[in-house]
Amino acid sequence: MAMGGRTRGFCVLLRNLVLAGLLYSTLLGIIYVAEQPRTVTTKLAIPALVEGQRPTGVLKLEEEKVKVQLSSQPTPITFNPHANLFNRPKTAVKPNDAFWGPRPDFDTEADLDLLVEACRGTYTGLEKMRNVFDCLHFLAEEQDQYYTLPAPSTRASAQDPRKAEYLNADGHNNTLKAYPDPSSVTKSTNETLGECPGPIIPYHVYWTGPATWRVEVFIKSYLYTQNLPCSRLWIWIDADRNPNGVEKMLTQDPLFSKFLPFVERGDISLHAWNFPTRIPLPQLDQIKDGVQYYKSPGKPNAKGEIVVADGIIEDAAGQQWLVLTAKQMTFLPQAISDAVRFVILHNHGGLYLDMDVLILRDMRPLLLPKQHDFAERWAAHSHPGDFNTAILSLTANSSLSSYLLYGGVRMGLNFHPRVIGRMAWKDGRDQELKMMETAAFDPIWTEFNWDREGRCTIPCVKDYGAVFKGKDDAIKDEWESYDGSELERIEFPTAHFPELNNRSHLDNSTEVNEEHEETVEQRNGAPALERTTDVNNGSASAPIAMHDWFSITPAEESALRASGAIADYRVEQDKFPPNNRTLENFFKGAWTYHVHNQWMKHPEPSSWISILQDAHNDFFDGSRTNSYGEKWTGPTLLPYYLWPEFA
Ligand SMILES: *[C@@H]1O[C@H](CO)[C@@H](O)[C@H](O)[C@H]1NC(C)=O
Ligand SMILES: *[C@@H]1O[C@H](CO)[C@@H](O)[C@H](O)[C@H]1NC(C)=O
Ligand SMILES: *[C@@H]1O[C@H](CO)[C@@H](O)[C@H](O)[C@H]1NC(C)=O
Ligand SMILES: *[C@@H]1O[C@H](CO)[C@@H](O)[C@H](O)[C@H]1NC(C)=O
Ligand SMILES: *[C@@H]1O[C@H](CO)[C@@H](O)[C@H](O)[C@H]1NC(C)=O
Ligand SMILES: *[C@@H]1O[C@H](CO)[C@@H](O)[C@H](O)[C@H]1NC(C)=O
Ligand SMILES: *[C@@H]1O[C@H](CO)[C@@H](O)[C@H](O)[C@H]1NC(C)=O
Repeated sequence: MAMGGRTRGFCVLLRNLVLAGLLYSTLLGIIYVAEQPRTVTTKLAIPALVEGQRPTGVLKLEEEKVKVQLSSQPTPITFNPHANLFNRPKTAVKPNDAFWGPRPDFDTEADLDLLVEACRGTYTGLEKMRNVFDCLHFLAEEQDQYYTLPAPSTRASAQDPRKAEYLNADGHNNTLKAYPDPSSVTKSTNETLGECPGPIIPYHVYWTGPATWRVEVFIKSYLYTQNLPCSRLWIWIDADRNPNGVEKMLTQDPLFSKFLPFVERGDISLHAWNFPTRIPLPQLDQIKDGVQYYKSPGKPNAKGEIVVADGIIEDAAGQQWLVLTAKQMTFLPQAISDAVRFVILHNHGGLYLDMDVLILRDMRPLLLPKQHDFAERWAAHSHPGDFNTAILSLTANSSLSSYLLYGGVRMGLNFHPRVIGRMAWKDGRDQELKMMETAAFDPIWTEFNWDREGRCTIPCVKDYGAVFKGKDDAIKDEWESYDGSELERIEFPTAHFPELNNRSHLDNSTEVNEEHEETVEQRNGAPALERTTDVNNGSASAPIAMHDWFSITPAEESALRASGAIADYRVEQDKFPPNNRTLENFFKGAWTYHVHNQWMKHPEPSSWISILQDAHNDFFDGSRTNSYGEKWTGPTLLPYYLWPEFA
């Protein structure tokens, strides 16, 4: 048996060698694409032809398979010349991009209590909780009911910035007497963010390690949907485990380098996250906030600090602090992430989002009301304390934020949302943190847990992998709940609709890289980290070769076309044919879609996530609008990279 196996193995090896020989002899020769290898002087290695790298070339050309060496890839990629990333139409229909109509006014507020009740029913009865379809329908169709523009004097923009809830709400460290007049605000350009006629609201995310596709799709979904002059994205980078995390992200991260112009413009700021050993607390209410102040506090220490309650000290200036002990701080990564959001929001206020949450709508109306503390329900669990905090909004330095923080610390730094939530419920405070139903933020969670009542969502998908799938029949009955009229199909070949398949915006990496380099150098006042040897050391050791994605320059693409490697598109040969998915029908009404980890998944072409990416790409290159009908006026933003396995 063992002997037979070995003989067979030898035969297979021999056959492979012969095949390999044949393959080589049928090579049609290498077609060199770039006339002159372009050198990249930047230290940020973005795929491009760099010295020592192989130039792009076609290695093998057959009717249904072409093998291509791209400059940015260590190994050749293989694809069908008649159905590939470069000639596949992005869609089989004409999308209605501006489906929301104009963006809500910067002062528009959502009635959060109405949103909770419309989708939950009563607090005890939960009559509507499981009906995700009806909730989404309400959210999509009844904006007039739950969005209002308050009376002029009570609008957020009419309040005094010096008393604002957020630091720097006016862009001037809260020193202005009034917010800028809406009729004369400076508009944003590619280099400046412009002014907000009302308070600027911070959005927080937390990340550890280098940027990945997940970070990119999160940031782009933010830029695609939010009222940018009125919002700021704070990315917190774990510095306890990664002391140089922020610097690395700003100077060495090939993917994050796409977003450096947004750091420059002020949209995005990176912040080092170190778990604090003490957190400032406002004066707490002994009865309401559960603090047991000592009747007779001890003596002040050398610094004049007095212990006033279990875990709380008061400094000489009268400021109270929640003190964390070293023992409390030894906890697991997930526990850190659970806790971080409460600390960040207590200190800064605003909105916290997990990085695997994709924003689909302007969130501002949810954040403007005076009482805007909310989170999400844990799927369709009926317990009033079963929160999920993938999305969390809290007012800074508030009684609620202090109570939750103090409670979590008292429980041994346990910030698991369901534990914190049940604590609040026991103390009768759960309803201060409004519980939004899953339809608003994670519309398939209820379906996924087999708890759905009423109709399936639009699209009808039942698990978190589905939106990454792009093959024709991969999602059964995804349109079962769609009653609208069918979008008109467009004809193939797509030569008739070239604007829908126009990839001429693909990055000209050299040019953009040089821009990035300047940005980094200007900011640091010193040359960015020396990486030239790395980059010039051939694809095998270049950082770009370590990534599983690639990009292609317009020059490379047109050379591949000229060589026949990218030929006419034939839909019948396509594994991922274009279809009638558009963002308009992607859980319309939901503010976000929660990807729920799925860290290793790449979106297949023509999948829902791929449709989202195309909408982003086309918005940022100026060829399409976002869902509010707006044109992009911001900095150049490179499109998503491509996945070789789906070429
Ligand atoms: C606001 O304060 C920060 C830090 O204190 C300072 O760096 C910044 O220049 C100030 N901004 C304005 C507009 O005054
Ligand atoms: C919260 O209070 C602390 C100390 O009292 C202060 O340093 C911080 O700026 C406050 N945060 C906000 C957003 O007002
Ligand atoms: C998309 O196509 C499916 C199947 O052909 C159809 O049932 C559905 O109504 C279409 N949806 C739209 C938005 O056109
Ligand atoms: C593709 O888009 C560019 C601008 O982004 C435009 O100049 C060009 O004419 C377009 N090509 C086609 C075939 O539509
Ligand atoms: C791309 O970069 C090259 C320089 O390497 C330049 O000659 C060319 O004009 C650029 N193309 C576009 C479309 O910007
Ligand atoms: C790679 O870089 C090292 C210096 O870091 C250099 O000595 C070596 O010659 C380079 N190799 C190639 C193939 O360029
Ligand atoms: C902004 O646009 C102007 C004019 O189109 C251009 O000269 C400038 O380089 C752009 N700046 C950035 C950061 O893209």
